[in-house]
Amino acid sequence: MIIAIDGPAAAGKGTLSRRVAQEYGFHHLDTGLTYRATAKALIDAGLPLDDEALAEGVAREIELADLDREILSAHAIGEAASKIAVMPLVRRALVEAQRAFSVRAPGTVLDGRDIGTVVCPDAPVKLYVTASAEVRARRRFDEITGNGIPADFLEILADIVKRDERDMGRADSPLRPAPDAHLLDTSEMSIEAAFWAAKTIIDAALKH
Ligand code: DC
Repeated sequence: MIIAIDGPAAAGKGTLSRRVAQEYGFHHLDTGLTYRATAKALIDAGLPLDDEALAEGVAREIELADLDREILSAHAIGEAASKIAVMPLVRRALVEAQRAFSVRAPGTVLDGRDIGTVVCPDAPVKLYVTASAEVRARRRFDEITGNGIPADFLEILADIVKRDERDMGRADSPLRPAPDAHLLDTSEMSIEAAFWAAKTIIDAALKH
């Protein structure tokens, strides 16, 4: 049983995916962390972010068990991840690891940009979680300032718009909903409401 959850940056996929995985007792993989870990390993080694063969080599060394969300959550790492994510060889390496994870028993939840379209096109349940760029920027702004760190709303909004363009505009595996994905627009929803909407969709799919 595979649950595929895709959507743009800061749409609330991560929180929703963890909650869904917990509800069903499934393993969860935030595939964004695999791109982030590859980017961070390159940066830490002082290597360039535009050498595809080098980045592929690093991607093949990524251990899923070692992915640390706290460490990888830095904004700069997300930006770098979005840049190496346009490279087909990097994607191929990481998608192989993600597919191997996806078949774990009793089931898995994978979240990212291309799970329903490329990584697990046969997943029986696909959700595409989105929200307007303004709402996503507002949530990120509240999260950052809630931690006592000053932030600039317009700068965050511009970053989100730029990231969307890069993720949706790349040639290999662009972000888009799979034709059979259920769309979940959380612009006007709390996390709790989004969870219950997702649960209704998943339970209906599990019955089939
Ligand atoms: O979801 P995130 O912010 O952790 O993702 C960081 C970057 O990784 C994102 O901008 C694009 C890339 N990514 C991807 O291309 N495919 C995925 N399945 C997940 C993330």
